Amino acid sequence: MENVAVIFGGVSTEHDISIITAISSIIRPLQLLKKYKIIPVYISKQGIWYSDPKLAKIETFQADDLEDNLSKLKPISLEFGKYLKIIKSGVIGGRKKYINIDLVFPAMHGTNGEDGSLSGLLNFGSVPVVGCSLRASVLAMDKVIAKEIAVANKIDVADYIDSSKSEIEENLEGVLSKINKNLTFPLFVKPAHLGSSIGISRVRDQKELINGLEVASHYDDRVLVEEEIPDLIEVTLPIIGNQHPIPALLERPLSKVEDFFDFDTKYMRGGKKGKGQKGSQGYSEIPAKIDKKLYQDAISLALRIYKIFGLSGISRVDMLINQKLSKVYFNEINPLPGGLYSHNFNQAGISNVELVEKLIFYAKERYNYQKNITSTFSTNYLKQF
Ligand SMILES: Nc1ncnc2c1ncn2[C@@H]1O[C@H](COP(=O)(O)OP(=O)(O)O)[C@@H](O)[C@H]1O
Ligand SMILES: [Mg+2]
Repeated sequence: MENVAVIFGGVSTEHDISIITAISSIIRPLQLLKKYKIIPVYISKQGIWYSDPKLAKIETFQADDLEDNLSKLKPISLEFGKYLKIIKSGVIGGRKKYINIDLVFPAMHGTNGEDGSLSGLLNFGSVPVVGCSLRASVLAMDKVIAKEIAVANKIDVADYIDSSKSEIEENLEGVLSKINKNLTFPLFVKPAHLGSSIGISRVRDQKELINGLEVASHYDDRVLVEEEIPDLIEVTLPIIGNQHPIPALLERPLSKVEDFFDFDTKYMRGGKKGKGQKGSQGYSEIPAKIDKKLYQDAISLALRIYKIFGLSGISRVDMLINQKLSKVYFNEINPLPGGLYSHNFNQAGISNVELVEKLIFYAKERYNYQKNITSTFSTNYLKQF
């Protein structure tokens, strides 16, 4: 049986969501598949790595004595080389135990995980890794770079200005005048690298803008300010695959821009209001009941984005539609959507078990593809020295 390490938690504002993604959308379906030995690898909020069968159970994380229980476990370490190994120091006698890892299934959201850092780290381990490459994740998780790439490819985005934290701190007047010259209120102020609406504000005037810039730059070293898309329909499309991506169903989260998703509406209160399909984004309409042409435009745009950014395995592309103009704008990419967006894939006819199986297949496909790309080069530099 192959050993599949599921890595989750992490030093990220989306730590808790990652636990749910890992346990309910990855570990449980993998257990049902009975084809792999599952090695849960949990990174605590403090950044300590643990691996223990108990960490595959949600109850472990719901318990009040989690910290106590974690302190009884020995932290693990990783060994990179020809194989990726987990090293567990033995509880009895201190003998080390090595576990070979055949494939890694990351379940990390946000910073220090989904942003490419985990994918990059695992490049040293010579193992297939589910999801996007280091390069694609970095590009996708930077809202400013992602917009610049979209613009270079003639894809519509909301008009924007970006600014560094230090510019905001040292030359607020300059930043404000650039924004006022180029953009029209209401605006959205966003930290460039975070997700889950953390640090995002919708601002209607100068005073709110100053406040929004302060909040966003508290969370990030780069801030994005963009115009609000009016007459908004928000849609999102989860996609799987590598060179030949397969879209799930276009999904429309049911909420108004006035109370745009904050962390709570998105993840905590989702179940209590509105009609529709319950997903990790509260309630939504799957497939989105919108004009046929707009539906198709959104699907084509998301598939183009998937290819342009070199996304692989799985990703979700968020788009904003101006109903009056019948125009679809690219908003952002989530390289590892919460809960793998399995509720949407289920509606598209792909069960949770099939989804994880496909993602493992794509990880191996990408790994083999990369392996065939030459990465060494013989020279006689050393002999000539
Ligand atoms: N330009 C915009 N126009 C209208 N609504 C927006 C705009 N940008 C963001 N929003 C609203 O804010 C939400 C969060 O913004 P988003 O860029 O998706 O950040 P996050 O990474 O937190 O999901 C969106 O889902 C949408 O409801
Ligand atoms: Mg979003």
